[in-house]
Amino acid sequence: VIMFLKIQFLMGLLGHILCQQVSSYPQEPQPELQSAFSVARTSSMEGSPKMVITFDKVYVNIGNDFDLKTGLFRCRIPGAYYFSFTVGKYPKKNLSVMLMKNRNEVQVIVYDEHHRNERKVASQSAMLQLDYGDTVWLRLHGDPKYALYSNIGPYTTFNGYLIYPDSSSYFRNGLTSQEHSSLKTSSQDMKETQNSGQNKASAEGAVLSDQAIRVQEEVEEQEEEDPRSAFSAARSQSLLGDDKKKLQHEPITFDTEFVNIGNDFNVSGGVFTCRIPGAYYFSFTIGKLPFKTMSIKLMKNHYEVQAMIYDDDHSKRREMQSQSLMLSLQRGDRIWLYSYQHDGYGAYSNHGKYITFTGFLVYPELPPPQHRLQQALKH
Ligand SMILES: *[C@@H]1O[C@H](CO)[C@@H](O)[C@H](O)[C@H]1NC(C)=O
Ligand SMILES: *[C@@H]1O[C@H](CO)[C@@H](O)[C@H](O)[C@H]1NC(C)=O
Repeated sequence: VIMFLKIQFLMGLLGHILCQQVSSYPQEPQPELQSAFSVARTSSMEGSPKMVITFDKVYVNIGNDFDLKTGLFRCRIPGAYYFSFTVGKYPKKNLSVMLMKNRNEVQVIVYDEHHRNERKVASQSAMLQLDYGDTVWLRLHGDPKYALYSNIGPYTTFNGYLIYPDSSSYFRNGLTSQEHSSLKTSSQDMKETQNSGQNKASAEGAVLSDQAIRVQEEVEEQEEEDPRSAFSAARSQSLLGDDKKKLQHEPITFDTEFVNIGNDFNVSGGVFTCRIPGAYYFSFTIGKLPFKTMSIKLMKNHYEVQAMIYDDDHSKRREMQSQSLMLSLQRGDRIWLYSYQHDGYGAYSNHGKYITFTGFLVYPELPPPQHRLQQALKH
């Protein structure tokens, strides 16, 4: 997006300077690169061999990639997608819902407490890298002892949207080559005009063609750095607090990487380091360990930004909690999760990947347009 805007801006600038018609630049974000859905289910569902959760209410279905009847999202535009879902727990039933990619389990929501008559909701989210034709769907445990709860409320929802189209098709073919060849042609034209034209236009042309070349160089410079940043990771092992380690503030580490665009997240170290200044969205989900207190903090450098707590160390339930927020980051800022290090504290996970951590760049920080214009025209 940043490059797209940048190129659009530079194109506009060039167009003004040259006062000549520059054809075939895309003026708007291309609608064929949009994909987003948000759907809800307005009735409860009991576990049965037909495990795909279907939906009956549509809030958004841009690109029509979600099929309500089958409950499948089918990828049309390869790229990185963010998915989130919330499910209601049915009274006196267990809850187990999995996010599936094709036939593979990605992550799970569980809430096993079938004695109590309470209703409750739980949420999860992850980013996934999808290829054309991949399907993403939610699966309810097939046993009738499991059920999900919803009504007209509705409590059960499923959302997904394309964050970054695949770099190969978008940044290389979709935009850059076409735009660059146009850009090169126009600066070529100017050089020719400059060489052949003998009068007033030529002095002006010399300055302008230099500018065009500089603008072009700037575009190429921008191209070198990936203007995207996104990660999504999971941990498949529980964490146990330990008094001996309570003075060490170590990040929660991860063992599964769903997405790591730009490589800004160190999975084994558990730390995201900001490369592109801007506004970022972060979300995390943590499982509660039976008989332990859960206390997790989202950290920015050495400061606590957001906290999550569930202090019921009598309960043997496994269940989950989620949090999310946006942060404005500068280059070098470090974002990580911390689990309180003390006996009696902990966080639960297993192969169902109850502990997840996701973050992505929403808007890069841009210098004000006036400044950019001056920069482009400088020297
Ligand atoms: C719910 O899960 C718990 C723990 O796994 C299990 O002991 C219990 O039998 C389950 N209840 C039902 C109704 O399936
Ligand atoms: C990731 O973090 C680990 C633990 O802090 C460290 O040993 C490793 O060098 C880091 N990797 C990179 C690529 O920075």
